[in-house]
Amino acid sequence: MTQELTPKPPRHIAIIMDGNGRWAQQRGLPRVAGHRAGAEAVRRTVDACIKSGVEVITLYAFSSENWSRPESEVKALMQLLDRFLKEKTKEMMQQNVKLQAIGRLDKLPEKTRKRLEDAIQTTANNTALTVNLALSYSGRDELTDATKAIAQQVAAGELEVDAIDADTITSNLYTHGLPDPELLIRTSGEFRLSNFLLWQLSYTEIIIFNKFWPDFDESDVLHAIEQFHSRDRRFGTI
Ligand code: FPP
Repeated sequence: MTQELTPKPPRHIAIIMDGNGRWAQQRGLPRVAGHRAGAEAVRRTVDACIKSGVEVITLYAFSSENWSRPESEVKALMQLLDRFLKEKTKEMMQQNVKLQAIGRLDKLPEKTRKRLEDAIQTTANNTALTVNLALSYSGRDELTDATKAIAQQVAAGELEVDAIDADTITSNLYTHGLPDPELLIRTSGEFRLSNFLLWQLSYTEIIIFNKFWPDFDESDVLHAIEQFHSRDRRFGTI
């Protein structure tokens, strides 16, 4: 008897949620309306990932570079994040979702950081899906911080220079403890990494969607997983 085996979904999916502004512009709406619609797409994506058995998603919600956007947009994004955390913590508990965050979180406004810390603490023991928010995040900052941490361990005599290897770097990144993403999704048709998870994406399969992030839905998650399964992953071998 032949048995159909369902292939395993990627354990970790990273997502560059691009195109909120253009989505709003096309509709003659303010950019913040695009971000609001983007938050709805986050909800749909979380639901789809839980159903598909994905373990972790890392969402690029706010890059270090995003601090240079007009003050009004930064403020609106922080307020949106604030409201998202306030309204969704209960839902995350019901869905058994664990929240984590990576980035220079000390740069976030006090109120938002506090709400984030509360949500992380409240959901800490949940096991269905880890939602990892990249906030005030830059891949180069992350590698710089890891380098400093490693240098301090060497200076303190806790680590030999010759003992430094790829695992040393991995374990000093903000993402320590998480598997590397097997799949990267980017919306709005751009082919760029934009300073996202530079070390962790070394062997990651990339899928670009030609739609704006607010239009992303459950069927797109399923399509991405299907595409992922059709890729021949060789990790540099033949
Ligand atoms: C990129 O679109 C999106 C962002 C910079 C912010 C992402 C935020 C959200 C999806 C909403 C909030 C998220 C959470 C987790 C509450 P863009 O503004 O760069 O779009 P554009 O390239 O068309 O201008």
